[in-house]
Amino acid sequence: MTAAKYLSIFSPASEQQRQENFESYWLFTQQHGGELFEDDKDLAKKRARLKHFQDNPVKLRQPLAAPEAFYRNYIELKDDPKSLDNMTLMLTGMYKFARHEWVGIKGAWDSVPDMANSFTVEDKISRVHLAEEFCHVRLFDEMLRTCGLDKVQWVPLGPVREKIYEQFPKLPGFLTDSPAFVTELMGVTYYCHLHRLLDEILATEPEVRERLKELLDEITIDEIAHVGQRRNFIGPIGMQISKALVKPFYTLFFNDIPEIKHLFDVGQMIEDGTAFDFNKLPDYMVERSWIPSYCKAENAPGIP
Ligand SMILES: [Fe+2]
Ligand SMILES: [Fe+2]
Repeated sequence: MTAAKYLSIFSPASEQQRQENFESYWLFTQQHGGELFEDDKDLAKKRARLKHFQDNPVKLRQPLAAPEAFYRNYIELKDDPKSLDNMTLMLTGMYKFARHEWVGIKGAWDSVPDMANSFTVEDKISRVHLAEEFCHVRLFDEMLRTCGLDKVQWVPLGPVREKIYEQFPKLPGFLTDSPAFVTELMGVTYYCHLHRLLDEILATEPEVRERLKELLDEITIDEIAHVGQRRNFIGPIGMQISKALVKPFYTLFFNDIPEIKHLFDVGQMIEDGTAFDFNKLPDYMVERSWIPSYCKAENAPGIP
């Protein structure tokens, strides 16, 4: 048996290690996303990648049997989920997950400093992070278009919830860091499970299956880096709180998207989140992503 290369995301880190890791992440993120186009909430390399997908579209061999079922249920589930096929449930559930992400970042974008007013490495990282999240919504939109769904609208959540999402980033870090980290972890967990579901649901649609995986990979690779980056904001007590938050957070969030329990094993997702240590991720993702130094076994104290 070969020794595991990486350690739990909940591994301890000293203040100094965290500072060094912010510097290391900042170098990574600049080359990973390329130039930041602040007015467009976009990044040069991500934009080019999306354009490549848009310029080389693929289509379903067998178009969706009932796109109206998607449009009827994507903002709010109206039909009995048992009456819907798994493809429709996967796509409406995916939209709902991405919509939460979109609402969260929309609120945060206006309340955190822009790049010109970002004077610490943490602020700069957070600005680019948000731009990356906007790119994810565009990639999700492209995933839906690839399935022939080109009339999708990104609809706000309603005034009360929008306000909550807007106020969240203004709270002090000791209150927001753990939830923000667990949210990123939940993203990676969901995307890994979604990746496997694509194989099942699109078994007879190889072109679209591979394209959706490529689009999803673009997102997942960023999210793996976000997990480490958000973990890096948190001290020892916050990490204990974060670990305790995994189960209630995943449960609450996934209960809010009724499609999820029909397609995914939420209990397994909670276990995967709690046990997350990068080792199960494929190499091609890890190579393009970022992992904190203190989650690498080679840097662990006591290893000869
Ligand atoms: Fe994201
Ligand atoms: Fe993220």
